[in-house]
Amino acid sequence: KSVSDLGDLTGKRVLIRCDLNVPLDGSTITDDGRIRASLPTLTQLLGAGASVVVMAHLGRPKGAPDPKYSLAPAAKRLGELLSVEVKLASDTVGDSAAEVVAGLSAGEVAMLENVRFEPGETSKDEAERAALAEKYAAFGDVFVSDGFGVVHRKQASVYDVAKLLPNAAGTLVKTEVDVMKQLTETPARPYVVVLGGAKVSDKLAVIANLLKTADTLVIGGGMVFTFLAAKGYEVGKSLLEADQIETVKGYFAEAEASGKQIVLPTDIVVAPEFKADSPPTVVPADAIPADQLGLDIGPESSAAFADAIRSAHTVFWNGPMGVAEWEAFAGGTKAVAQALTEVDGLSVVGGGDSAAAVRQLGFADDAFGHISTGGGASLEYLEGKTLPGLAVLDEQEG
Ligand code: 3PG
Repeated sequence: KSVSDLGDLTGKRVLIRCDLNVPLDGSTITDDGRIRASLPTLTQLLGAGASVVVMAHLGRPKGAPDPKYSLAPAAKRLGELLSVEVKLASDTVGDSAAEVVAGLSAGEVAMLENVRFEPGETSKDEAERAALAEKYAAFGDVFVSDGFGVVHRKQASVYDVAKLLPNAAGTLVKTEVDVMKQLTETPARPYVVVLGGAKVSDKLAVIANLLKTADTLVIGGGMVFTFLAAKGYEVGKSLLEADQIETVKGYFAEAEASGKQIVLPTDIVVAPEFKADSPPTVVPADAIPADQLGLDIGPESSAAFADAIRSAHTVFWNGPMGVAEWEAFAGGTKAVAQALTEVDGLSVVGGGDSAAAVRQLGFADDAFGHISTGGGASLEYLEGKTLPGLAVLDEQEG
């Protein structure tokens, strides 16, 4: 269901879950992409004559109030972008929240403090989550789910609360799900997936599924060294998950049997230390010196990866190719981002971190087909998993 299926919202109070989990430097937001992505639904609700109560999390506080994780910077930025004051409660479901919500008029916006200040939010105990969800539900007449980045979490403000109120998906969730469906069900081929980031173990399940749905997997980032080790190469001091080597060998065998390609780098930018100013050298991928560690893919690989991407009609990319925040090791990530902007077809940047990285490298959002707000959520979708925050909405539809 969409927001328009919720009927006349004039004078109604809409409880909405957004993903405002933005990167912060102290109290300064370094990438407000997720806040901007939340605007269309909020504007739609306010335009429909509703008042809005926003629920969101920031970081992973330990189920108790912690000023470091306050939503104050997000509330301020949201207010600036909406040109409406966002009244932030000083607690999540306590007296302050009740007072702020009770004082809301049509066209006004309140925000509850970080939902993860409540132990019930992330509890594994369903009864504990349900009790907290009851408190959230008392703050709204209807519930809108618009935090795509968090729909893979079975948490009180994402999952349990949706069972207690008439609900609908917001436009952000709808747009994201449409793109994910296109990737999994009807990708224009060739469909190339580029994966980077530190750990293979984080991406095991998604790789297994992508070997079925995609035509080519291009691998870079810290996890590539486990792939190179599985080829029998020495990787020096590079990041290595030795316990995953056998699994990766299985991927090679599977790809060969099904005619899929796994593209690995042929050269690597190495340095003696994990430091921004450690002196970089380019070496062949099968000759990483014992006293060096790989911090980026090399220029030959960047060119080959860019070719593979540009030859595709569908591309999904998650995870940097190297230590993109350090200039000397950002070349691979830049080349991949640039190639995505040149795709004749659908190009998708997946994930909060990858999205922040492309913006920090100076790329405009509209240079890509779609920038997903969900990292873990988009990977779990592509993995073929049922996402609780989406399934619960479907349940109500039934
Ligand atoms: C994210 O940053 O991917 C989402 O906001 C979810 O955050 P989480 O991984 O802490 O649940």
